[in-house]
Amino acid sequence: MEFRCLAVSGSLGEVWSGDTLVVGLFSGAAGDGRAQAETLVGGALEGLLERRRFEGKPSQTLTIERPGHAPATLILVGLGDPEQFGLDALRQASAAAARSAAAAGAEELALWLPIEGLEPAAAAAAMAESVRLALYADQRFKSEAEPRSEPRRVTLLSPAAAAEAGLAHVEATCAGVELARRLVAAPPNKATPQALADEAAAIAGSFGLDLKVLERQDCEALGMGAYLGVAQGSDLPPKFIHLTYRPEGEVTRRVVLVGKGLTFDSGGYNLKTAGSQIEMMKYDMGGSAAVLGAARAIAEIRPAGLEVHVIVASCENMISGGAIHPGDVLTASNGKTIEINNTDAEGRLTLADALVYACALEPDAIVDLATLTGACVIALGEEIAGLWSPSDGLAEALLEAGRAGGEAFWRMPLRSSYKEGLKSPIADLKNTGPRPGGSITAALFLQDFVTKGLPWAHLDIAGTVWSDKPRGVDPAGATGFGVRTLVAWLVGGAAC
Ligand code: BES
Ligand code: MN
Ligand code: ZN
Repeated sequence: MEFRCLAVSGSLGEVWSGDTLVVGLFSGAAGDGRAQAETLVGGALEGLLERRRFEGKPSQTLTIERPGHAPATLILVGLGDPEQFGLDALRQASAAAARSAAAAGAEELALWLPIEGLEPAAAAAAMAESVRLALYADQRFKSEAEPRSEPRRVTLLSPAAAAEAGLAHVEATCAGVELARRLVAAPPNKATPQALADEAAAIAGSFGLDLKVLERQDCEALGMGAYLGVAQGSDLPPKFIHLTYRPEGEVTRRVVLVGKGLTFDSGGYNLKTAGSQIEMMKYDMGGSAAVLGAARAIAEIRPAGLEVHVIVASCENMISGGAIHPGDVLTASNGKTIEINNTDAEGRLTLADALVYACALEPDAIVDLATLTGACVIALGEEIAGLWSPSDGLAEALLEAGRAGGEAFWRMPLRSSYKEGLKSPIADLKNTGPRPGGSITAALFLQDFVTKGLPWAHLDIAGTVWSDKPRGVDPAGATGFGVRTLVAWLVGGAAC
């Protein structure tokens, strides 16, 4: 799929002659979009809109087939209340329109959506990303693919020519999101720790990044007892992945992205029961998928001055005669001892050693992404990820990047008094606190493994990594959540 921006001054037919045109209409008012659509249809739309009950509600679409006319398909898409209109509404409308256009068999598609008041490059990026991401489909695990079509070329008619700059990173960003979606959607017998390491190697090979994969013995030598404790119940060997992007020339900013990479989380001896989504725990590597997707995007964009380290302590949480017992005490690579009062709180154990390793790189900032707690899903639902950080600057930057990338975050507190809940009578701390505030104690646990004063943020993406039904730019299934925010944060500007 190819994107371009095209300014229309005179009549549309002079500059564009595709088969499918999308026109956006606000609810209620007869705005520009309606006048434009009426000119095209060659008559008042009112009767038609009423008959087909098109009210311009957000993401509502109406497909009008006009054989023998140009364009042969006109799709009206609702933009909702003009007062509420912004980048998010533009994304929703673009995604909905793209789905209708694909269903109508569009080949040469154009979008005419109003972007007054929005930064043109950001608007162009939002539209293009939404079209591409909404049309993503994954049929890898079907023996026979269902026939489907997508437009060859998509023209954005409303933005000024300057908006073309907004398209610069669309391909790289979307390829990163799609990589993350593919990894998350792959079942646990395919997306193993070895498969994650292979994916990292493929990215390294294609884009010239450095890759180091630490085997079990290497991790033992580093004293990573928390991570290896989780891994020891599995027949699959753990893979500690360290992928590095280095720019040409001088480095002015160094960041580490850490992703939780549990390719399956059975819960261990605190086995997940029916209703606890054990059959969905293939997505417990969503954090690692996001950081690998971001690595791929960054590697393609090649920003100057920025060095990015991606770290994944990958393994499975399984049951066997060699698995950790509830009650075991493990020693992490910073020397801290941890009483395992629940083997299902395994993500934080793998992250503990990954964070110690990340801090040793002495970066300017560390961001970890993890499907860490069910408690975060209860707190914020499936559309908003939790964000914890002792650094106001980093927290603000990530919230802003989330807005630019179209992903929602809510900052949560690192309330230090809740650390009481992690006190252990036998070890330095235990891995699980009380049920209330469970996502907060999880974040506080992680903080214990981060060097004081080093800017660090923890993103709990347990709710947002998967969607049971299509929502906004996401199809049903893996969302690839996190990639767009990371790219926006690392590359900056509207062109994310
Ligand atoms: N991977 C889960 C968290 C999770 C749960 C993600 C549901 C997505 C949906 C994590 O390892 C886990 O099991 N957390 C426990 C922690 C508890 C034992 C303190 C949880 O949230 O129940
Ligand atoms: Mn678990
Ligand atoms: Zn888990």
